[in-house]
Amino acid sequence: MTRWRFIRVCSVVAGVSSISLAAWSSVTKNLPLTPTHLRCEYLVNPLGIDVEKPRLSWVLQSDVRGQKQTAYQVLVASAPEVLAKDQGDLWDSGKVQNAQPVHVEYGGKPLISRTRCYWKMQVWDKNDTPSGWSTPAQWSMGLLRKTDWQSHWIADAEATDRVKPKPGGPTQPYPCSVLRKQFLITSNVKHAMVYATARGLYELRINGRRVGDHLLAPEWTDYHKRNQVQAYDVTKLLQEGTNVLGVTLGEGWYSGRIGLAPPPGRNFYGSYPQLCLQLEMELDNGRQQVIGTDGTWRSTNEGPIRESDILDGEVYDARREMPGWDRPDFDQSQWQPVIATPLDDTKFVWQRNEPIRVVRELKPVKLTEPKPSVYVFDLGQNMVGWCRLNLQGPAGTEVTLRHAERLNPDGTIYTANLRSAAQSDLYILRGDGEEVYEPHFTYHGFRYVEVRGLTVTPEPTDLTGRVFHSSSPEVGRFACSNDLINRLMHNIAWVQRGNMHGSPTDCPQRDERLGWMGDIQAFSQTSIFNMDMAAFFSKWMQDVRDAQTEDGRYPDFAPHPFDPNKVFSGVPAWGDAGTVVPWRMYVNYADRRMLAEHFESARRWVDYVHKNNPNLLWLNRRHNDYGDWLNGDTVVLEGYPKGISAVPKEVFATAFFAHSTEILAKMAKVLDRSAEAAEYANLFQEIKAAFNRAFVTPDGRIKGNTQAGYALALRFNLLEDSLRLKALGHLLEAIKKYNNHLSTGIHSTHRMMLELSRNGQHDEACRLVNLRSVPSWGYTIEMGATTIWERWDGYVAGRGYQGPSMNSFNHWALGSVGEWIWRNIVGINPSEEYPGYEEFVVRPQPGKEITWAKGEYDSIRGRIASEWRIDGDHFTLILQVPPGTTATVYLPSSDPTATIENGKPIDQALGVQSIGSERSKAVYRVDSGRYFFMTPALNAHRLASPEE
Ligand code: BGC
Repeated sequence: MTRWRFIRVCSVVAGVSSISLAAWSSVTKNLPLTPTHLRCEYLVNPLGIDVEKPRLSWVLQSDVRGQKQTAYQVLVASAPEVLAKDQGDLWDSGKVQNAQPVHVEYGGKPLISRTRCYWKMQVWDKNDTPSGWSTPAQWSMGLLRKTDWQSHWIADAEATDRVKPKPGGPTQPYPCSVLRKQFLITSNVKHAMVYATARGLYELRINGRRVGDHLLAPEWTDYHKRNQVQAYDVTKLLQEGTNVLGVTLGEGWYSGRIGLAPPPGRNFYGSYPQLCLQLEMELDNGRQQVIGTDGTWRSTNEGPIRESDILDGEVYDARREMPGWDRPDFDQSQWQPVIATPLDDTKFVWQRNEPIRVVRELKPVKLTEPKPSVYVFDLGQNMVGWCRLNLQGPAGTEVTLRHAERLNPDGTIYTANLRSAAQSDLYILRGDGEEVYEPHFTYHGFRYVEVRGLTVTPEPTDLTGRVFHSSSPEVGRFACSNDLINRLMHNIAWVQRGNMHGSPTDCPQRDERLGWMGDIQAFSQTSIFNMDMAAFFSKWMQDVRDAQTEDGRYPDFAPHPFDPNKVFSGVPAWGDAGTVVPWRMYVNYADRRMLAEHFESARRWVDYVHKNNPNLLWLNRRHNDYGDWLNGDTVVLEGYPKGISAVPKEVFATAFFAHSTEILAKMAKVLDRSAEAAEYANLFQEIKAAFNRAFVTPDGRIKGNTQAGYALALRFNLLEDSLRLKALGHLLEAIKKYNNHLSTGIHSTHRMMLELSRNGQHDEACRLVNLRSVPSWGYTIEMGATTIWERWDGYVAGRGYQGPSMNSFNHWALGSVGEWIWRNIVGINPSEEYPGYEEFVVRPQPGKEITWAKGEYDSIRGRIASEWRIDGDHFTLILQVPPGTTATVYLPSSDPTATIENGKPIDQALGVQSIGSERSKAVYRVDSGRYFFMTPALNAHRLASPEE
């Protein structure tokens, strides 16, 4: 580089990116290598786990270039005092020469039930300098064997009436049972744990105080097979003397309504809720005391919650509240002894993912009165949870809250799309002054809340939206120069918050709310960019295996409340979540153990399809065969082509058969199962050949000539190189045919976007994401969407709503475009070869109306940040690469030789190795640290190559 040019470039750096640069230099302080964020089995300080060799992980921090861990030492002690002396009586790993800060398997004394483990660790850096000990963390073991339980299942005294429901079963919900146990503690409590689960849902209180902040515990599993147990440290809630355990039980998924259930639509796992709980105390006097659920507990059905249902909501009569029921000295003489039954062999497992809890609150942005005394609160955001309402009025006043996602033209709430889900709450006032109401065992999807029955005109501040979901940490943050894309990412984040209630659901509002596999199959990588899904998917993949059929079919949804051997299983692209999601777990979190646990199950799925389709085209046994769901053929719009959007189902199914087979081969390779790796890699090639023979013409046309067909074939590597370009040309033609719009469904939309950008048509992908006419994301935003809609044409101006039988405004499948934004706009891509972001690719691509973008992603190995902009003639990138990781960076550049980093010519930059240029991109390998790149920008932004 000539001297004058170098100086000019530096002055551009100083002028244009001054804000970013200031932020950048202020955090570059040569910080030493520090381990933080200690986690056990993906969670911070988990209690009651049942993993006998838990995996420990930490995140390393340092901004020194090329910094890394070269060794670690872990200490695990049975008491904080032991750990404080830098001793590990359970495990002292010693100094282990190993660079991996993730999934370090516990290797100490066998962990038995109730063991409390306190741990800390240190690392040595690239110069063998120790970091010093980390802040301590802990985990505890739960009750690992059924024989640890001295408790029974208990249910309220009238439950037997429900055991033999009248023909057709009960169709009405029951009041929530309230259970109570009073007991004496004769000394101070040194330590106390409660282990609790329910068939149904429970809320636990001790001496008048709520235990934990979990909602809808123990959450949904196949209760015939396993129940999740929550563990709570309750030491501080107990006292010497009389104490009370109080529990309210709701029906939940166990005996309440479940989506798509045949009549009577309830009682799928059992007829009445039951509780199993064990309180274990270590006392100061050296004694142990255990209080379990047994026949000595008392119950009543006369409490305030008269009805409670996940889909329908709650009826709460505040006049029936029983002040003091969960404290000592309450008169329980009217309460009945409970019914106690011994535990059977249903497995008890720990809840291995973050609990459902309130994560944020929303205040109304507007309050209207579309009809006299009918008030509509607008929370400004389609959210999921319930409301807290402050109110007052005479005793017996009935106030209803009805929840809806949209309004009718007259300002009243639009509820037709909820189908039979009432999602309404009825509160009956006590009448003694200010009252505060919040429901219990339900959840609603809504932006608008209609309140009727108030005797006083409400203020907007009287209502609060309580947003709750599985509290997986949010790990992705994004902004760019294009406001439409910012809105789209906002909507994607909210659709995700709305559909994680213990399982990944299709929707949160209508009478469905099932863990539809196809939807999360499409959305999984997007969900991982937004939230840390590792623990959530670890839980859910077990639900998937629990619902696998005897002949190897994966279910259409999990948990599966019906019989998957008979209904709702074996569908292309839905069943394939059983290979796709574990593979995403491996690529993003390096979770090899998950692959090992899951491999046989995945193999059974692929073998099932193969066995029934020996000619390698998936023509037989596709069961409900939904195809590329909600493709353009379902859009009701004048002038929009009809009948030519849907990729033929045999093409669609065979593409997924090939894809799952290829994934299975990769899983086998990771697991060192070389025979299976070869077998399935070979099978993939054979399916690919059969696909080409049957569906692809020599000029690269794919049967049906649909956008979706090309997108899937390209994405799943089903075409030889010589045909890729031709297929891409046909794809572009197919887009033109639709007046330059999409016609893709839930499985092909994001794959088409990814393939356009991967194959040199990034501008076309950017054009599609910028559209504001139907069908497009932009149109939904123009129509007021604050989440992703189920259908492209959920609402069309002038035409109105799509048919109410399937028109959710909170469905994440079409939000899978988030993956395209992360991979191509922010530019962050995980690597299959070095999973868990040990190595990754950074490939930001400017595009139409996108001149800058920044994203931060908290990967399992620490924060990756990418912030780029076009500054006049230059492209700049500020990049953060976590310690111990390496990035391959592709900079769009018209002259790679003129790239500078932090003001220096690139060949002098510390930690940067130039590895050539590729199709208008300068390519560098970058060690950990923070970097500031600048390179002459391209006039036309072209071409990327495969991102993984
Ligand atoms: C759900 C979808 C799901 C589908 C199966 C619908 O009712 O809402 O998202 O994947 O059924 O086709």
